[in-house]
Amino acid sequence: MKDRMLFNTCPDGEFFGRVYEIDYICRRAAEKPAPAIFLFGGRWTGKTELLRRVFHGLFWGQARVVPIYYQFKGYGSAEEFAEDYLKEVLKQYLAFRLRDARLVRNEVSLDKLDRLLVDNDLYDLADLAAIHREARRASDSTAALRNALSSPAMVSARSGIPVYLILDDIDHAACSDGQREAALSRELIDSLSLGPASFVASASTKRPLDGAAFSGSAEAMELPGLDEEVATSMMMDLGRQYGVEFDTEILRLAATRLEGNPMYLKSLVWAAAKSGVSLSTLKEFGDLYTQDLFEGNMGIALRSALGLRGINSLRVLHACSTSKRPLSDEDLSERFRLEPSELENIIEGLSEAGLVEVNLGSLLWAGGSVVKDFICFVYETRVKGRSAEEVRTYLAREILKEGFGFRGARAGLKLKDEVAEVMRSFNNQKVLKLLFRNQAFSARFKKGKGGDEGELTVPQSVGCFSSERLEAGEAGPPILVAHGFQNGRYDSGNEVVWIASVKDALSPVNIGDVENFLRRTQILRENFRAAKVVRWMVGREGFTAEAQKRIEAEGVFSSDSVQLKIIKEGLADKDSATRLKSSDKIAPVKEFEVVLPSSSKAELVAAKAVEEIGTEMGFDDAAIGQIKAALVEACINAFEHSRLKIAKVFLRFVASADRLTIHVQNGGVDFDSPSEPSDPIEAGAMPRKRGWGFELMRGLMDEVRVERVRGGAKIVLVKYLVKGDSSNGKEV
Ligand SMILES: Nc1ncnc2c1ncn2[C@@H]1O[C@H](COP(=O)(O)OP(=O)(O)OP(=O)(O)O)[C@@H](O)[C@H]1O
Ligand SMILES: [Mg+2]
Repeated sequence: MKDRMLFNTCPDGEFFGRVYEIDYICRRAAEKPAPAIFLFGGRWTGKTELLRRVFHGLFWGQARVVPIYYQFKGYGSAEEFAEDYLKEVLKQYLAFRLRDARLVRNEVSLDKLDRLLVDNDLYDLADLAAIHREARRASDSTAALRNALSSPAMVSARSGIPVYLILDDIDHAACSDGQREAALSRELIDSLSLGPASFVASASTKRPLDGAAFSGSAEAMELPGLDEEVATSMMMDLGRQYGVEFDTEILRLAATRLEGNPMYLKSLVWAAAKSGVSLSTLKEFGDLYTQDLFEGNMGIALRSALGLRGINSLRVLHACSTSKRPLSDEDLSERFRLEPSELENIIEGLSEAGLVEVNLGSLLWAGGSVVKDFICFVYETRVKGRSAEEVRTYLAREILKEGFGFRGARAGLKLKDEVAEVMRSFNNQKVLKLLFRNQAFSARFKKGKGGDEGELTVPQSVGCFSSERLEAGEAGPPILVAHGFQNGRYDSGNEVVWIASVKDALSPVNIGDVENFLRRTQILRENFRAAKVVRWMVGREGFTAEAQKRIEAEGVFSSDSVQLKIIKEGLADKDSATRLKSSDKIAPVKEFEVVLPSSSKAELVAAKAVEEIGTEMGFDDAAIGQIKAALVEACINAFEHSRLKIAKVFLRFVASADRLTIHVQNGGVDFDSPSEPSDPIEAGAMPRKRGWGFELMRGLMDEVRVERVRGGAKIVLVKYLVKGDSSNGKEV
């Protein structure tokens, strides 16, 4: 096998997403003139991985620019930086020209480089090494700096190919204090803003080099954590690789809670693998996370990265992290009795570390929630003297509580809003009673017992509002009130009020919730003169057996999120309402996720998976054949647009009452974007022949949509399930 390895990166099998960003920077690099890009993102969002992969792409995939990657670090002196930088520029140019990856990876002395340049007739570049030696002998650090920083321009002039600089951690060029570093960053800024070379530079603060570097001249590109879909798939994949058992929903929660930060995500899965714990419950996540944050890998990384200087700095940081409002200098100096000069120093340090943002004399927290948790731990133990175990317990408890609300938030629509939407759409439709009776519904679908087939006609809704104003001091889940009329008659005899409570948590509605609701509705109904009051409890996670019993006895309606989803679909969609009239068409929603690695025939794995899911749902062979063909097309399309070898494709199958919905996402690249013919990365690739792909998919499925997601798009394929209809839903 050819030796193509350049700078160290994580194994391809452990790298997720970022296809769009890598592709974008590579394309911009090849433009004439290439624009400068400033890439910023918090610690460990994956800037280095991304830039090294850009370098790899440019090194092997094109010949329009000479890519040079340089990572800034701490230096003893400006001359030391100059030598290091000069060596990298010369070495990587030689490597590019000689197509020799070893030169990039290996350390080479300046003398050896000098000889190599001469051997390859690159005398003017060899001169740069001589000037450097001269400057060092004369202890002329400015000359050494300027010589090194001019080397990319010399390379461009010599080779006739522009240099594209990939400057990682550019903020490190200015972070140490002292005259020499100030000179370094000044010279660097000058060379970047005046020099002919184009660049992409990364930093973990928005204002590197005192904000002066790229004023207005560079395109800013923020690198946030991985998006929810990609981050969840990454955890699933790592979980499988490291033999960690998991529940997808918990991983999704973890991925969001850890801000999609790849370092945190990996660290959590490793911690689980090391301690032999699974990631199947919220409690397991809470325990593992707090342990890793306090004593494990995450804690070590954060401790060294934050480098908290002094107890007052910690106090200020803690105050900012817990305050919902920006804090002013006066607030802080008064609260902590700080001299203005000390406070100024602290604020400068925190803002340099990207932990706070300073705006018009106010400080706003800019670190994420993981850093906030860590600060809480350090503060509580160091300042308040609490034991680590006590703080850990407190934090784990908070995470459990937070986790409850998570699923509602993830759906994009909170359950409460969903219930309000459902009640607002009441318009004399007929709905199966079963959908309002959780006990009967679960008996039928979870235990296979028969249920009643009766229907109920919902009223015509006039409006829906929250009960807050009517019961200001009440605790408990929110209650919604909807007014309407029955039987299409607008008289007081037909006036009806629906009172619905919504529990949007990861735990089922319990007897306490039922009692709370019964008491509150008793008081609330005093407000309405309506002839009839209907009480309805909605619980995201259903109901405990005890609660179900009490609800039945009281004649209160009850629905879980599955029932609600079916009600919602039925009310909104006339066709589906007719389909839903017969209860044997109703089945709980099931979701499956599959991550496809980029290998030949990966789409066949997808076809196999959909065949099983489709058969279980009751699609006939012809329909399954159509779904498989459409899915294979979507997968090929997704891989094709990913362009880079590392890409993966994420599939989510949602099998619901009357349809199969398949989400196909490729980590961020548009599916339908026309490919640029001159794209260097694609040079030599097969010409595109799949313009008809969408037409084909549309012919095979009932719905084909392209939905925007962060950084790209995904394809959504829908096939309706119509039992007894041999065409299985393809209504022509
Ligand atoms: N897209 C990704 N998929 C999987 N792992 C990733 C991804 N991006 C980064 N990582 C891993 O996350 C960790 C942090 O990545 P990296 O060092 O690139 O972040 P960074 O933003 O450069 O951090 P720093 O702020 O320290 O410069 C590394 O272990 C890296 O291998
Ligand atoms: Mg980095």
